Amino acid sequence: MNIDLSNLPAHVAIIMDGNGRWAKKRMLPRVVGHNAGMEAMKEIVRTASDMGIKYLTVYAFSTENWKRDLDEISGIFGLLVKFVARDLAELHEKNVRVRIFGDYSVIPEDARASLDKTLLTTEKNTGMQFNIALNYGGRAEILRAVNRIINERFFDALSKGDYIEEVSEEDISRCLYSGEENGDVPDPDLIIRTSGEERLSNFLIWQSAYSELAFTDTLWPDFSPQEFKSIIESFCKRERRFGGRITEAK
Ligand code: FPP
Repeated sequence: MNIDLSNLPAHVAIIMDGNGRWAKKRMLPRVVGHNAGMEAMKEIVRTASDMGIKYLTVYAFSTENWKRDLDEISGIFGLLVKFVARDLAELHEKNVRVRIFGDYSVIPEDARASLDKTLLTTEKNTGMQFNIALNYGGRAEILRAVNRIINERFFDALSKGDYIEEVSEEDISRCLYSGEENGDVPDPDLIIRTSGEERLSNFLIWQSAYSELAFTDTLWPDFSPQEFKSIIESFCKRERRFGGRITEAK
């Protein structure tokens, strides 16, 4: 593996897709696929942190996932509790800080309590920031940001007689889950989606404007640290222009 560390993506985001198909291929219940998916996720968190990636964001549960069977939903949240109980110490030891993108106030009580414990335990950690997108949807996130800005402006108008009509990109970025409430996470440099689907499915839709995208046919439970490293390696070789021209090396 030959990775140019100076070009390492600061923020990698992952759509962990294919747990259900992985289980189906083995004639196993879907939740067994999610369990295998959780193991894969742990390995990738370890690998990303060891590589020196600063931010890792995973799509764990979307606002649309509530449409699934109750058994599957409680299975996923049960796994989350298990993950925290078994692996929190290791995350903490690796100096990883966990944060949540999404409104997790509505998830089952025991899962919420586990998450609160995780957020608190890792609060002062200064290593990789691991963002778990939970009950997350990109459009809902943008709407929430706009409504927060309207409220702020309204409050300013009432308290200071100061009403600013223009809303800037910075205002929206600041009010997203990735904004000030979670430490102003830079936009993802790279978004990976497994299982052969080639779309963003409402994940980080504001933040992904200039992200590089990488798709692989591998089902999430089979996604290995080797494949992760090889995707990072090809990312390091890509030229990113952000809508402009590549600047000539001086
Ligand atoms: C997508 O596969 C995966 C999910 C909706 C859940 C992801 C959950 C985990 C990786 C484990 C739990 C971890 C946490 C932090 C909650 P799919 O079910 O859509 O697969 P399919 O497209 O093959 O049906």
